[in-house]
Amino acid sequence: MNLVIEEDTEVFQLTRSVTWQSLLKLREQTANDRIRDYFAQDPQRFDKMSLRVGGLFLDYSKHQLSDAVLEKLLELAHHSALVQRRAQMFSGDIINVTENRPVLHTALRNLGDQPVIVDGKDVMPEIHATREQIKRFSEAVRSGEWKGYSGERIRDVVNIGIGGSDLGPNMACRALLKHRHPELNFHFVSNVDGAHIQKVLRGLNPATTLFIVSTKTFSTQETLLNARTARRWFVEQAGDDADVGAHFVAASTNRKAAMEFGIREENVFEFWAWVGGRYSMWSSIGLPIALAIGFEGFIEMLQGAWEMDQHFLHAPLEENMPVLMALIGIWYINFVGAETQAIVPYDQALHQLPSFLQQLDMESNGKSVDIFGRPVDYKTGPIVWGQTGSNGQHAFFQLLHQGTRYVPIDFIASLKPEPGVEDHHFALLTNMLAQANAFMEGSQQGGDLDPYSCPGNRPSSVLLLDELTPRNLGALIALYEHKVFVQGVIWNINSFDQWGVQLGKRIAGEISERIDERSQDFDASTQGLLGLVRGHFKTDDKSAGKTTARKGSKANH
Ligand code: F6P
Repeated sequence: MNLVIEEDTEVFQLTRSVTWQSLLKLREQTANDRIRDYFAQDPQRFDKMSLRVGGLFLDYSKHQLSDAVLEKLLELAHHSALVQRRAQMFSGDIINVTENRPVLHTALRNLGDQPVIVDGKDVMPEIHATREQIKRFSEAVRSGEWKGYSGERIRDVVNIGIGGSDLGPNMACRALLKHRHPELNFHFVSNVDGAHIQKVLRGLNPATTLFIVSTKTFSTQETLLNARTARRWFVEQAGDDADVGAHFVAASTNRKAAMEFGIREENVFEFWAWVGGRYSMWSSIGLPIALAIGFEGFIEMLQGAWEMDQHFLHAPLEENMPVLMALIGIWYINFVGAETQAIVPYDQALHQLPSFLQQLDMESNGKSVDIFGRPVDYKTGPIVWGQTGSNGQHAFFQLLHQGTRYVPIDFIASLKPEPGVEDHHFALLTNMLAQANAFMEGSQQGGDLDPYSCPGNRPSSVLLLDELTPRNLGALIALYEHKVFVQGVIWNINSFDQWGVQLGKRIAGEISERIDERSQDFDASTQGLLGLVRGHFKTDDKSAGKTTARKGSKANH
């Protein structure tokens, strides 16, 4: 029997809670507080508001947070379902209620010996089996034992995927470039724009190229079209369909569809429905990472994430890094009115981290109904954006310093310099610290009329990795996964479905199938624009979704 909440049932309303109301009052009382004054009032502020977990150090002292506000935010966490929902997630309960699934990306990096039960069965054996499959495969490709159709070793790896089947492995392979196999090159194709795959295929040798078709569902239009184009290119170049098996593997939950595409059963690296796409880099979606840095490196990355999991599970909320980051975000989003969260890695190797965190955060918490389907009356997930520093200083820091927007910033950097460029690293880190200080202090040079004056009082966290290693990267990503989870629990939303993206997919299918009709089903704008598009294409074979350019195309709207 499904639980039905009667409309008139008096249900708990977050914004009417005593704690929430107290936070609103605290906002009124502290709205004009200067962050710098908090340091003057408490010389121990930095020591009290910084935290080390493994190879990560978080300084959250430069936030517009009085002791009373932080205490009340922690009360919000204590009064929420956090402790219960956290236990449910790790144990495999069905917390993704709209898709009726557990959420078990944490099981993928479970390096302990406790079982994880799904549908009455311990899933750890199949997780271990897939890890072994990844180990064997990555060692064969990296050692040169894996040969292509000409008998040569693999030199180029092309990952074809989008969203969580691209962003995680792409970000990690870039972040860990210095750990990468010297004879392997990695390419990531995601956009359905043909220019993307054309650019990658141009200059590749089919005899030494391996394609990984990464797709949880094996039904995503962009990925299938790119995979078909890659296969067509390969067969045209290599001359034989039979060779596809030595050059195409798949990471998917859909073994049947992968094999129908032409991938050998033993080269399908399976994962499971209870792994969300944006949480899947720990699964066989992480195959490119294992190929790039080796299986041992991949396990080190899992180790770092597992250590962060243990911290998240066992540290008191007051000393819990994901919880503190989540609560700081909730303070700005729900009580200060910030609309966005900036991610500024002062680390060129992390330049794809903002894009990865965009999907992780915005696809998880970009929701407006709670887990019961009721519209919420408070803000939820922020707009997450960012770019590396020091580049951002020459792009958007002007707005952050003197604009009218209030944007909390996460600065992220690694302490250990690369040999030979220590002076660059010193400049990088000192620039970051200077910016965090300047955002807080501002500058009151010539009084209020001074055009150069910066109001300051703009908050930031500084997150330092001792070194950008697989282990610390794993911990960093798990940290943000759990931060997103904590915010979702406090907002009482489902962070693990993504119904909003299905709508666009459905309409894209309808439009592409009816390109030749003047359908009244679409609004006048879409019809008019389709008229312009229609002039350039004709559908040769609807079943294959094949369209070709119309010769001498003309606009016929
Ligand atoms: O963006 C929607 C989404 O379903 C993501 O959650 C997912 O990571 C991406 O599309 C790709 O899906 P798949 O891995 O099934 O191709």
